[in-house]
Amino acid sequence: MQKSKFKSLFNLATVNKNWIRTATETGTAASSQNLKPWKEIPGPPSLPFIGQLHHFMSAGAFSDMRDPLTTMKLIEKYGPIIRLDSMFGKRPLLFLSDPESIEIVLRNENNYPIRPGFESLEYYRKDYRKNKGIKFRATGLISDHGEVWQEFRSIVNPVMLQPKTIKLYTKVLDEVALDMITRMRANRDEYNMLTKELDKEMNLWALESTGTVALGLRLNCLDPNLPANSPEWQLIQCVHELFTTSNQIDFIPNLWRLIPTPLYRKVMRAYESHDRLTKYFIKKGKDNLKYKTDTEKGILEKLLEINEEAAHIMASDMLFAGVDTASNTVMATLYLLAKHQKKQNLLREEIMSNSERRPYLRACMKESLRLMPVVAGNARRTTKVFHLLGYEIPKGVDIIFAHREMAMMEKHFPRPNEYIPERWLAAKDDPLYYGNAHPFVYVPFGFGARACIGRRIAELEMDTFIARLIENFQVYWFGPPPKTVQHSLNYMKGPYNFVFKDVK
Ligand code: HEM
Repeated sequence: MQKSKFKSLFNLATVNKNWIRTATETGTAASSQNLKPWKEIPGPPSLPFIGQLHHFMSAGAFSDMRDPLTTMKLIEKYGPIIRLDSMFGKRPLLFLSDPESIEIVLRNENNYPIRPGFESLEYYRKDYRKNKGIKFRATGLISDHGEVWQEFRSIVNPVMLQPKTIKLYTKVLDEVALDMITRMRANRDEYNMLTKELDKEMNLWALESTGTVALGLRLNCLDPNLPANSPEWQLIQCVHELFTTSNQIDFIPNLWRLIPTPLYRKVMRAYESHDRLTKYFIKKGKDNLKYKTDTEKGILEKLLEINEEAAHIMASDMLFAGVDTASNTVMATLYLLAKHQKKQNLLREEIMSNSERRPYLRACMKESLRLMPVVAGNARRTTKVFHLLGYEIPKGVDIIFAHREMAMMEKHFPRPNEYIPERWLAAKDDPLYYGNAHPFVYVPFGFGARACIGRRIAELEMDTFIARLIENFQVYWFGPPPKTVQHSLNYMKGPYNFVFKDVK
């Protein structure tokens, strides 16, 4: 079914190819007279008063925006540029699946690129909290924009992006991985399946890993006696709830901007809990520094020396952005390796060789992020007028880049539905060579000044854990493939039919 859908999309892309090229090359003043206006961009038809809303209601063609195939359906029907008009105070939206246009937008944004998205978080941090007497200038990388964002990012960049600082966590992250392996061994039934829910288990691992990096201390999330109402469990549940509900409030037309809906109240309560819990953990991290004996300084300590407020905010952002992202990527990789036993065995060989370099492991991770990305696409709000594909795109439009969909197109990645880590290692003359794809097709950690600040941390955490998992377990999957549900992130849904058999 998927194949035929992709086919019609490719036909459309081939037909438009010459036109597309001319259109992107004519972004000059002279040719701007030929540009078509916003209203002529293809998109679901509008009705008087309700605009395009009916397409997103229960009987509409795009009602299930949580299903990743919905965006593919949109692209298939309307092409590489799709217009969604403003609804309920939400800005107009553009879906782009043309890498050349994406490059134009990402490379030509000003010094303060705006990534729309967590508007409810922005509202919570800037307005809701302020009404309760809490007032900071910077509120965090996810919620700030413009000069405030840039000021804050320039404080944290030298610490967060320094490879030497990240390397300090190699040993402790390996300890976390080994503790998790012990926990998994202890929680298996007679069929070597986990008796606990895998998504929650992986979240525990991710919180322990990211928490260790953010706060410089082990949180003990993997303690088998961790009570269900412990702050660790509460934080995991809270992050998960925020990522799932924020999708409903931030991305799907909703009335919360006009009236305080029950969903709005629920999300504000969840942000309050996240604040309370991160404060609890940051205090623990700061207290722990008093007993520190080694001289090497970690992230929290370095940031505290520069600016105490920045240290708090950054730790909070890490605990927000670094848990579900890492855990879902690990689950996707485990599933793909379980379904490809030969590749799993090749990876195990590399790990067992104890070589310092692990190119196949990196290739496996990159391929998982292509095939089952946790972040489906990135976004920017235009800060100037753009000329894309023959249309004039006004300032103030939110553009969603459909990276996941593009990475699944044959013209960019041959045999796109197959898990082929080898493509990331192939020589230039190999048709599978990843470099044949336009560089703006696959950008899992974003681009430019606003790119993921936790990338190096995430890669170290995930590589370390996957290596330990594959070293210890032969991983199998049985039954139908898992479903992925799209909220703000892509979540792999249960049942999790994994078998973790000890490697002899
Ligand atoms: C598989 C794991 C991860 C993926 C795929 C991922 C992906 C992304 C993407 C696509 C962005 C948007 C970049 C842009 O706008 O160009 C982003 C931003 C961000 N990520 Fe990650 N991320 C991951 C893990 C992490 C971790 C572990 C942390 C923290 C330790 C983190 C912290 C952040 C923060 C704070 C931002 C906002 C940066 C800014 O706007 O200045 N991420 N991430």
